[in-house]
Amino acid sequence: MGTLDGKVALITGTAGGMGRVAAQIFAREGARIVGADIQVAANEETAGLVRRAGGEMTGIAPVDLTDADAVRRLAEEAAAAYGGLDVIYNNAAMQRFGPMPDFSVEDWHATVAGELDIPFLVSKFTWPHLVRRGGGVIINVASEAGLIAGATPPMVAHTAANAGVIGMTRQLALEGAPHGIRAVAISPGPVLTPASDRDLGDNQAARDAITAKTLLKRFARPEEIVELAAFLASDRASYITGADYPVDGGASAW
Ligand SMILES: NC(=O)c1ccc[n+]([C@@H]2O[C@H](COP(=O)([O-])OP(=O)(O)OC[C@H]3O[C@@H](n4cnc5c(N)ncnc54)[C@H](O)[C@@H]3O)[C@@H](O)[C@H]2O)c1
Repeated sequence: MGTLDGKVALITGTAGGMGRVAAQIFAREGARIVGADIQVAANEETAGLVRRAGGEMTGIAPVDLTDADAVRRLAEEAAAAYGGLDVIYNNAAMQRFGPMPDFSVEDWHATVAGELDIPFLVSKFTWPHLVRRGGGVIINVASEAGLIAGATPPMVAHTAANAGVIGMTRQLALEGAPHGIRAVAISPGPVLTPASDRDLGDNQAARDAITAKTLLKRFARPEEIVELAAFLASDRASYITGADYPVDGGASAW
């Protein structure tokens, strides 16, 4: 018996990082996965990993989740894959960093599109499918940057967009409640994914700077974020909506 047996979960950003781990953990818990990403080969790799472990996943790629028409089509395709949708896991994001006042207007708009437009568009176009199902759950991955400022690297658009995600989650919870839709946010601290591990290489000073604000003085492993998401997606979390959960090693506690 899995905690997500019988549920269909649309997870965005399943080509790598936390999205890949989410596909694996949600499938382990019995959910059928629809995984969307802009990257084709890596997304298929994830589907292969899920299937080899005995799970079910349909990959939909490439899809640019900042493109409203593409997301509209994705929502239809995702709902058709297994006959409906129960969980929307807004994990995919793209962000740019840079200091004030040089951070360009283009980088600002790209980050807002990559972090705030994506969960809005995916929630908007999948919403009618959740309503049709009699309810569901929207999980938005925000960031500790939505709660506190960050020095490393400078992150003006990242902080603004993620505060937006947390605010939007509260509103989705309010408007979703009459339809049985719960909406929750998770705000991770620094997470070591294969991509960030590769980028940081042996630069221990950079690693220490990124984790300095955590009380635990380390990165999270992707599963330390995703296990909470799996709980929030399940019926065991049936009284939880409108809330944001920091999973940040204590970074926002002081
Ligand atoms: N890694 C961290 O330290 C950290 C910390 C706090 C919050 N987060 C958030 O957690 C989530 C996952 O982070 P991650 O580190 O696993 O990210 P990642 O960059 O490893 O993966 C993101 C995935 O989203 C996909 N994606 C990006 N833009 C897309 C688009 N326009 N259309 C379709 N797919 C697109 C990418 O191809 C990639 O597979 C993100 O929302 C991120 O902001 C990450």
